[in-house]
Formats: sequence, structure tokens, C-alpha cells
Amino acid sequence: MHPKDLVRQRFTARFGAPPARIALAPARVNLLGEHVDYNDGFVMPAAIDRATYVAFSPSGNEQSTLLAADFDDEAAFTPGSILSKSDVGGEPLPEWARYPAGVQWALQDAGLPVPGIQAVYASDVPRGAGLSSSASVEMAFAVAWQALGGWGLPPMRRASLGQKAENEYVGVKCGIMDQFASACGVADHLLLLDCRSLEWRALPIPPQVAIVIADTSVRRKLTASGYNERRQACEEAVAVLSRDLPGIRALRDVSIADFNRLCGGLPEAVEKRARHVVEEIDRSRRAAGLLERGDVAAFGRLMNACHASLRDLYEVSTPELDAMAAIAQGLPGCLGARLTGAGFGGCTVNLVQKTAAGAFAEDLAEGYARATGLTPEIYICRAADGARILAD
Ligand code: GLA
Repeated sequence: MHPKDLVRQRFTARFGAPPARIALAPARVNLLGEHVDYNDGFVMPAAIDRATYVAFSPSGNEQSTLLAADFDDEAAFTPGSILSKSDVGGEPLPEWARYPAGVQWALQDAGLPVPGIQAVYASDVPRGAGLSSSASVEMAFAVAWQALGGWGLPPMRRASLGQKAENEYVGVKCGIMDQFASACGVADHLLLLDCRSLEWRALPIPPQVAIVIADTSVRRKLTASGYNERRQACEEAVAVLSRDLPGIRALRDVSIADFNRLCGGLPEAVEKRARHVVEEIDRSRRAAGLLERGDVAAFGRLMNACHASLRDLYEVSTPELDAMAAIAQGLPGCLGARLTGAGFGGCTVNLVQKTAAGAFAEDLAEGYARATGLTPEIYICRAADGARILAD
């Protein structure tokens, strides 16, 4: 059953009446600019046609009761119990409930009215696959609470509050990219975001290409610790480099020439991490122009270079992601292939000539299964609009 129908059905069964509304927020795939959002760089994601759906009604009091249909689990909390980060019964909230609870906490903290909610949610976004299932949960609940609270925030502001929920309530030090893409997605477009100024624009996806997502079926492991370590290495690089470059605030401010001149002063592991970031920011600066000129071949080459850099310098790839990217890069019609998202498992993103996309997906599935013995899920995705309330 489609999650939209599932949440409606489960809501009516659980709460005894149909939901007032259904909110949805898409997942995302990132084409270029990986691990640069927390370095003030440029990213180029798209919201995709997989989403989290939340069927909801006001509860009429301050308690929120949530049913996660995918986990068949329920949790309840109030504003007071969220502040103390435990549920009404004094038990800690289950892992899945920390995302909506964190959103309520961040909205309240921003002074917004956040009424109690009855909600059932479900998603067709694979979890732990690098497609930002958690950001899609956060952004779906943010628009649900916006509808109930009677206020209206610009999507970028909702994204920032979702990031704050994840950073300060859930405890993952992610950047802004995922919540931004889920909140601000534009159908058939990539989004180009400057993660320092938060200015962004939508770039039409050239009509001759398709975006193909290839799920290795291997789920991420140790992501939070690996992610936070990478972040720390970037901060260490800025601290060291700023002795010679006193004006810099982030790796975004370091040119490749300056980096090459000064990198000898960095510990070897830190140098590798920082080199990825400095070069990836340079790639993402060039990418928008290539897309606008329709030079999809050159854009694809930047994606391939990004994968190599994530594999060799940032060291967030896995043998399965490497196999998926390498097989894809050798197939007809493939312009670029690389891991997408944080890494450590999950999916690759592929830019493919539209006319070749069907055969590409089949050959990639077959080649990957032969190489690894695993069954991948491969699909051609469409760029979608951002989080919203579904029309009745
Ligand atoms: C995760 C984080 C994002 C971003 C990517 C890597 O998805 O949530 O903020 O840092 O990893 O680009």
C-alpha cells in the first residue's frame, strides 16, 4: 500500500476518525558538493519522489501521540516532557520518536505555538541509505505543526529549525543540506545552495538526462561517529591554516593554491580530509555553469572525481559503493556515478543519458549482483517539490 493511503487508514483505525490533513516531505539525493555543507561550501541536491507522510489532527490538549506505522510503535510526549527529553511515563523516547519530538522542541524554542498532535506516519524512503529519511520526517512534522499552529515560516527557516532539532536534540551534528532540500525542493530541478549565505536557486535538470539512484542494500554503520570525526578534522584544518591565513572562517575560504602551499603543516589524515573539501568546493563552484551550458558530460566527470575523492581522501566509501560506482561508470550512457550523502553505506547517484537509462538500470543491477552477490534496488527518480500539506 502507498504510504499516503497507509497513514490515512492506520490513523482512522487508531484515533477513530479520519485525519484532518496529510503532510508530506520528500527525501533528497545530492548530485555534487558532498561533505561541504558544514564547511560553508556549495551543494547541489534535489528532493526526490520518495517521501514521509504524516496523517494528523489536533489532539485538543498538550499531549502529542504518534504512531510510526513502519515500526508499529507508539510514543507520547508533552512540551514539558520534551524539555526534559523523556516521555510522559518517564521512559526515554524510542529512537524514531526523537526526530518529531526534536522538531517540536526546536519550534517551541523559537517561540512558535506547537499544539498537541495525533499523528500516524510512514515513509517509502529507505532508512540508513543516504537519502535523508530523517530530514524528511523532520520536515513533514514541521509543516504539520505549522498547519496546526496557524503560523507560516519560510521553508528555509523550517529547514534551519529541523537542523537545530537534529544537532541539539537528536545529537547528530549534520549540516543544513538535507533539511533544506526536503523543505525547498522544486520539481524537475536541482537546487544550488550556498551553505554560508543560505542563498539558493533552482536549476532545471537538462531534459536529456535521468537521475538514477542505486541502493547497494548495505545499510550505514557507525555513521554518527565517522561523520563527527570528519567534521572535527575540518575544524582542525581551519585552526592550523588560519595561522597563515588569518581571515579564514571555514575551508570554503581556502583556495586550492593556498591549500597546496600550506598543507605541509597539517597532520596527514587532516590534510586528506581538508583536501577533499577544498577540491569539492571548487568542483561545486564550477558545476552550476556546466549545467547551465548543458555540458552534462563535464558535470558527470566532476561526479566521478567526487567519488574518487570521497573514497581516497575523505574515506567514507565502502567496497559495495565502490563496486556500484565503478560498474556504473563503465556502462553506456553513464555520465557520472558516485556515492551520495554521508557515505559508509547506502546509495550511489548516477547521471545517465535519458535514452540509455532503462538499459543502464538493468545492466547495473545485474553487474552489481554478479560482483557482490547482493540484490540492489535501482530506480530512475524524478526531482520533486518540497514539504507541503497534501491537497484534499
Ligand atoms: C549527511 C548530513 C548532511 C551532509 C551530508 C554529506 O547527509 O546530514 O548535512 O553533511 O551528510 O554531504
